[in-house]
Amino acid sequence: MDQSIIADLLAHPRVSETRQHIHHSVPKLDHLLRVARYSYMLAPWMGADRRTAVRAAVLHDLDSRLGTLTTHGAIAARVAAEMGEPEAVSEAIVSHMYPFGPRPTTREGWVLVVADKMASLSDLSAFVGGLFTGRSLRIRNELRASDPFYRSRAARRQRRRLIARLWRSRGREALTP
Ligand SMILES: [Fe+2]
Ligand SMILES: [Fe+2]
Repeated sequence: MDQSIIADLLAHPRVSETRQHIHHSVPKLDHLLRVARYSYMLAPWMGADRRTAVRAAVLHDLDSRLGTLTTHGAIAARVAAEMGEPEAVSEAIVSHMYPFGPRPTTREGWVLVVADKMASLSDLSAFVGGLFTGRSLRIRNELRASDPFYRSRAARRQRRRLIARLWRSRGREALTP
């Protein structure tokens, strides 16, 4: 893949920080780059603009945790626009979860739909392949520690458990004569 198309994006903190984020149990950056490579390959075959499709691929899941299966495309599309990407890039990103969420309206949008599905399978096979050596679980544990979103979710869960425990023990005390 010609990296010069995306060199500026790879250096952008919003993209480089995804090295520490967990996505399909692998680093999110690995997923983004897989989608970028598949998009690079598919774009000419599907008559799409390669540069638009590949740039959209690199950004397509930014802030995905703030949305749902069907809405996170719109969130990432907005992030891309805020980063100064042209309309065509956001338009490709918004529908990448099709058939969950909106149907693509451009060729680049279709490239992203196919590339994202292919990359998700590759993410899974990379994870399963690494289970035999223990690499996958080690990386997943490292990501759970480094991902701020995951850390805050774990902290929220722990707080809820503590409150439930306190509630139960207080309840018992109150019932004891
Ligand atoms: Fe996604
Ligand atoms: Fe994705």
